[in-house]
Amino acid sequence: MILLTKPSQSGQVDLVPAIENLKREMNAVILAHYYQVDEIQDVADFIGDSLDLSRKAAATDADVIVFCGVHFMAETAKVLSPHKQVLLPDLAAGCSLAESAPADEFKRFVDQHPDHLVVNYVNTSAAVKALTDYCVTSSNAVQVIQSLPTDRKIIFGPDKYLGDWVQRESGREMLLWEGSCEVHEIFSEQAILELKQAHPEAKVLVHPECPGPVRDLGDVVGSTKRLLEAVEKGDPTGTYVVVTEPGIIHQMERIAPQATFIMAPAEVAGNEQGSCTTCNTCPHMKRNTLEKLYLCMKNRSPKIELPDDILQRARLPIERMLEVG
Ligand code: 13P
Ligand code: SF4
Repeated sequence: MILLTKPSQSGQVDLVPAIENLKREMNAVILAHYYQVDEIQDVADFIGDSLDLSRKAAATDADVIVFCGVHFMAETAKVLSPHKQVLLPDLAAGCSLAESAPADEFKRFVDQHPDHLVVNYVNTSAAVKALTDYCVTSSNAVQVIQSLPTDRKIIFGPDKYLGDWVQRESGREMLLWEGSCEVHEIFSEQAILELKQAHPEAKVLVHPECPGPVRDLGDVVGSTKRLLEAVEKGDPTGTYVVVTEPGIIHQMERIAPQATFIMAPAEVAGNEQGSCTTCNTCPHMKRNTLEKLYLCMKNRSPKIELPDDILQRARLPIERMLEVG
């Protein structure tokens, strides 16, 4: 039983059955990203990567979408289902990548390169998506870029490391925006090398938001879904070094309960050992808690609202993203 810790707000509430009741009463669907805390993953109707969550948000017949992820994901759900109520347990759950591309600055950049197609990672605000020709996720970025006419120049934002990976995989040169994920850019290359030495049999699973030298150490490089598939298809009693946000280990352990998962450490300046085993937790994803999930459903707030023109202009690049992969 997980009880609400602030009895003043609503008395003693057993959160999981209360959330289940609200879900039925509201005809709501709970969507959760793999980086959410375990308790939220356990109560969700669907857990997925950015692409699959967007697809679920577009296809659901629920009246209310409760999005347990970060702000840009809930915005994407709102763009795809503008007439539904989209709730986010904590409105301040942001993303360093989305924040690295403020809409006004990004517009200036686009205006300076009018002959370029604009491709953006889905980790952007809806206002930036409204300036975008094609959105991509880490699941389909390479395929989308490969599908674009070869005589067109391309701007890719906002993740310079994902952009670098896509360039290498697709063979297409692109003009990259200088953003990065604060979680994935600090994995320690040295610590991963040491883990590989200590566990030569281990498979190293790396998210492409990591810098090139860390990606180069991966046996598998891909989206969260791709990394889970690698565990599903891999040795059920094997060892895996996980080079992405640790929330994903909850589903990895479900898929392969006999396997060993080692979280790769982060490089931390000033730390005596030079690395930290908890620093790659995404502080934005972890803003959502079971208690906030319950309260947002009970209060139908916070909810996502977007101006009509942004809702309309952001839709086409997101729909193009859903068509691929
Ligand atoms: P994916 O789940 O699409 O791989 O994205 C990872 C991520 O950083 C979400 O913020
Ligand atoms: Fe953004 Fe990185 Fe957190 Fe994903 S892990 S939400 S990219 S800050």
